[in-house]
Amino acid sequence: SDIEKGTYPHFMLKEIDEQPFVMRRIIQEYQDDQDNIKLDEDVRQAVADCDRIYIIAAGTSYHAGLIGKEFLEKIAQVPTEVHIASEFSYNMPLLSEKPLFVFISQSGETADLRSVLVEVNKLGHKALTITNVQGSTLSRESHYTLLLHAGPEIAVASTKAYTAQMAVLAILAVDTAQAKGLTLDFDPMKELGIVANAIEALCDQNEKLEQVAKDYLSTTRNCFFIGRGLDYHVGLEGALKLKEISYIQAEGFAGGELKHGTIALIEEGTPVIALATQEHVNSSIRSNVSEVVTRGANACIISLEGLEREGDEIILPSVHTLLAPLVSVVPMQLISYYAALHRDCDVDKPRNLAKSVTVE
Ligand code: G6P
Repeated sequence: SDIEKGTYPHFMLKEIDEQPFVMRRIIQEYQDDQDNIKLDEDVRQAVADCDRIYIIAAGTSYHAGLIGKEFLEKIAQVPTEVHIASEFSYNMPLLSEKPLFVFISQSGETADLRSVLVEVNKLGHKALTITNVQGSTLSRESHYTLLLHAGPEIAVASTKAYTAQMAVLAILAVDTAQAKGLTLDFDPMKELGIVANAIEALCDQNEKLEQVAKDYLSTTRNCFFIGRGLDYHVGLEGALKLKEISYIQAEGFAGGELKHGTIALIEEGTPVIALATQEHVNSSIRSNVSEVVTRGANACIISLEGLEREGDEIILPSVHTLLAPLVSVVPMQLISYYAALHRDCDVDKPRNLAKSVTVE
């Protein structure tokens, strides 16, 4: 390929490191001269006119969709559902009167999404594709496109496309809120700038995260990720990253759901990575950590600066609470990277996986 790794040993590490730069490029691309959000008027109209958004995606993009739903509902007050493309294609839910379909796809080529899009077009509904690839199949076949501007992503495990997807979804949500005349108490571009700086600070701490990977994951068979709310969804992505490249059996769980079954799996030394970035669930996720530690788990807490905590944790620089996923995923990307590296796995080309899956 024309894209080079430069001084990086792997594309994945390069792409993780590029995330602050991608954030700043997204800010630039989606801002006009007056510092207002720059978006095609017909995209704005399509979102404002719909009564419900149906997000369709797969893999990491599905996880970005879960966060996007929170943005669209909390910031823009648009009811939003998120669906796995391969399930949706044969098991379509009852649709609202004026649905808008949002396809999230790094490559724009995923066959599972395409088959849903074909159906949506047949039904005469509107579709917006959020993709990294201009002119991709999904982009060409849908009414509207928003680009991620993340630059080519080569490593099979998606990193910078995920954070870019969440950033574009946040901008779309804020734009919709503004179009609806809702009052917002924050400046999205300023907050994304703060996110860019926070990611940069985390990438500079990669030695600390390499140590976490060595301490917790060098020989383990499994690993659990727990969180509540947004943190739960980011935990799902953390688990997927670890599975994909290190082949460690990893699962993400909602903190409150642990006691309903999963806690039976905790043994002496089981690694549990807990995310604590949301103030309203800070004490409850910490109780979950105590519950697993009592049963022998080896717990690592990743928390947001400013929240009440005790002991040694990985502290994320403070960012707007809704945008915490864009920052909290970075230590998980780096921990997975180093876990794979220390277990001698092929980081950029994991077994059995393809970058873009063009068969159903
Ligand atoms: C493949 C890749 C994943 C990716 C998923 C969706 O399974 O290995 O990393 O998240 O496809 O890809 P898309 O290009 O649609 O975002």
